[in-house]
Amino acid sequence: MYGKCSSLPDAWSVFHDLVHKNAFSCNIMISTLCANGQSAQAIHLFLALASDSVVRPTHVSFVAAKRVLGLFSESLGLESGALEEAFGGERHAMRMNYYPPCPEPELTILDAHADPNGFTILQQDTRVKDGLQIVHCGAWVPIKPLPGAFVVNIGDQLQVLSNDAYKSVEHRAVVNSERTRVSIASFYGPAEDSHIALLAQLVADEAPACFKDSVYGNYLQSFYASKLDGKAAIETVRY
Ligand code: OGA
Ligand code: NI
Repeated sequence: MYGKCSSLPDAWSVFHDLVHKNAFSCNIMISTLCANGQSAQAIHLFLALASDSVVRPTHVSFVAAKRVLGLFSESLGLESGALEEAFGGERHAMRMNYYPPCPEPELTILDAHADPNGFTILQQDTRVKDGLQIVHCGAWVPIKPLPGAFVVNIGDQLQVLSNDAYKSVEHRAVVNSERTRVSIASFYGPAEDSHIALLAQLVADEAPACFKDSVYGNYLQSFYASKLDGKAAIETVRY
């Protein structure tokens, strides 16, 4: 689909730097839009990163995520621990995305989706201005990276638990014709065996229950079994 990939060692050093600065920890997923043999090389480099003990067992991003979850609770008028309790346990994962340049960028894209989890803390690559896009008022809008800032994307479980008060954000990532782009997505959500049921405090005559109960692991399985398709997944648990 596209020709020459840019340098993978370059991507490695960018990841190294980002991860080192933030001392992320958790399960790591690797995602790359590389062609053919390049993806094997990318995986090799990312595994080297993991075994380099750069990904240290600290809980920095975990603590930050809990703090953000508390703020989401409070903004819904709930006790700060309400959403954490509703999660009934936690699942934390990290995905490193590597997007090599493509001479025909319109052919290569991380398809539109909403993250299935609670929310995602995304670190963008400040060297590349166009990458993440979200749907806002029916149109794709670029989210330009700001140095030193994370993007927090609301995922499906926050939409479910909040009874539609929060909407998970539909997003996609486009590649650049000249530059490699990397991103690190830190996913925070309920444990896989958690039973997700919207919060009774948020159901009222004027706000009837919108979503059926589900086990989060089952939701995740069906999300990964189907292709990325905008916000289709959450509609499967809507009444
Ligand atoms: C993801 C994602 C966006 C990006 O990993 O789920 O949406 O900018 N990534 O890489
Ligand atoms: Ni995403």
